[in-house]
Amino acid sequence: MGRGFSQIIRESPAYFHVGLKIIGYKFFSRRSPIYGSADIINVCNLHCTHCYWWLNRKENEELSVEQWKKVIEEKFKKKHVFLITLVGGEPTLRPDVIQLFAKEYPNRVCVVSNGTLPLVKIQGVYFYWISIDGTEQIHDSIRGKGAYEKTRKNILDYIEKNGEKAWKDVWISMTINSLNYKTVRDVIEEWYPHVNKIGFQFHTPFMKGDPLWLPYGSERTNLVDDIISLKPKYDDDFIINPAKQLEIMKQNWGGKGTTPIDCPTWSIISVDHMGREKRPCCIGSAEVDALKPICEDCGLGCYSVFVANGMKG
Ligand SMILES: C[S@@+](CC[C@H](N)C(=O)[O-])C[C@H]1O[C@@H](n2cnc3c(N)ncnc32)[C@H](O)[C@@H]1O
Ligand code: SF4
Ligand code: SF4
Repeated sequence: MGRGFSQIIRESPAYFHVGLKIIGYKFFSRRSPIYGSADIINVCNLHCTHCYWWLNRKENEELSVEQWKKVIEEKFKKKHVFLITLVGGEPTLRPDVIQLFAKEYPNRVCVVSNGTLPLVKIQGVYFYWISIDGTEQIHDSIRGKGAYEKTRKNILDYIEKNGEKAWKDVWISMTINSLNYKTVRDVIEEWYPHVNKIGFQFHTPFMKGDPLWLPYGSERTNLVDDIISLKPKYDDDFIINPAKQLEIMKQNWGGKGTTPIDCPTWSIISVDHMGREKRPCCIGSAEVDALKPICEDCGLGCYSVFVANGMKG
């Protein structure tokens, strides 16, 4: 995993297309997706209290490897999407599909996982995004008893088994909510010695009054300021969120009610487990009558980073 010089040379056509997309947007307001996300599975081994995926889950089939190959062609390759995130459900339960994406998009695929199943080195996977939602007790109150210990063990085992650079393959993703926001510093301290990066985003509610949402105001602002002040204390951009992205997450940056306004929904093409496009974004749904995320309270990292860099809806 990771990118060497020869890999970068091989990828130059992809960089060329990303460059064209950015120029197209800046000078001609042309909107073409830069990233992709795919829910490769309709099953999860956990039922986390904060999870959007369970809200709109439907009992239908999943796609075969052959069918995913067609989706990759139609939805991602044709549109010259640069990097694809595999999500779910729990994507590590479909290693066959991960392998396919890794083959079709070598070193431009990352896997978002709860890390409760052993992590396997797969040639062509760029890195694992492992979700950690607080220190052990808080994480388990969100993800279920014993979840933290399993994930911790699987990360450390992966690093031990896969050579001295394996730590580079593991990035932590923490979704901050009203239960875990006081543990952010501890999570950074705990994982800094082991993994490559950590990224933060905020819980995004699907209903007003969701008690997990950390309201705009002094506590959220102080937390964001705290994270920004911690960034220079750790090497190599260990905390990956740029300060300007964190700044905008102090308030509404996305839209009004459930309608995206500044949010660049076009920047990421997201498909569900049937390969259908989800709307309005990666936490939305392909079904028109599905529950919708509340854009004005959104804390998603993958879209807010575009807004912070001047790319809007
Ligand atoms: C739906 S999960 C799928 C991948 C895998 N099962 C996992 O837990 O990492 C993808 C990410 O979305 C985050 N997530 C779930 N519900 C969320 C919400 N309402 N707002 C923001 N992020 C959320 C999870 O914490 C996780 O990091
Ligand atoms: S493990 Fe991931 S997909 Fe499963 S319930 Fe938790 S956040 Fe949702
Ligand atoms: S990422 Fe989704 S929920 Fe957030 S503002 Fe954009 S469309 Fe709305």
